[in-house]
Amino acid sequence: MPVAMITGGSKGLGRALAGALAAQGWDLVLDARTAGVLEDTAREVRGRFGTRVVAVPGDVTDAAHRADLVAAAGSLGGLDLLVSNASVLGAEPLVRLDALPLEGLRRALETNVVAALGLVQEALPSLRAAEAGAVVVI
Ligand SMILES: NC(=O)c1ccc[n+]([C@@H]2O[C@H](COP(=O)([O-])OP(=O)(O)OC[C@H]3O[C@@H](n4cnc5c(N)ncnc54)[C@H](OP(=O)(O)O)[C@@H]3O)[C@@H](O)[C@H]2O)c1
Repeated sequence: MPVAMITGGSKGLGRALAGALAAQGWDLVLDARTAGVLEDTAREVRGRFGTRVVAVPGDVTDAAHRADLVAAAGSLGGLDLLVSNASVLGAEPLVRLDALPLEGLRRALETNVVAALGLVQEALPSLRAAEAGAVVVI
């Protein structure tokens, strides 16, 4: 079965994508920082679709966690699709740029841009080894 990694796979769009891919037979590696919510999602997807779902709690801004994610995909046989979906807004609820705390912007850039590229770099050897490896950045 093909293997997809979805960051931010515990809720929202990531969780919906996890269900949609599992329904088509994909095995999954999911990540999010909040372990309990992530484990609940993984259990539900596994139960509904019978595919293999590995939950790896952690923060995508952490290089060691990104390496763990790629290793988890390896344990499922490789990586065919990376969906880089985890993101933060920098302020919740979102505010106009004139009121956005710079620390929030820094966190958003680190999560949404720097970590996303870091994960692509980490995953590239696995994606290149796949027949048709692909990356989607949301
Ligand atoms: N909702 C919208 O209106 C909208 C519009 C346009 C684009 N988008 C994009 O669509 C994507 C998903 O949005 P959404 O609304 O579904 O978001 P969401 O419901 O807030 O979910 C975000 C997911 O990312 C995880 N996450 C956040 N920071 C993380 C980190 N540092 N490391 C690992 N996981 C992290 C969250 O779990 P934890 O908090 O437990 O880590 C959660 O699983 C985002 O890229 C967003 O920019 C959304």
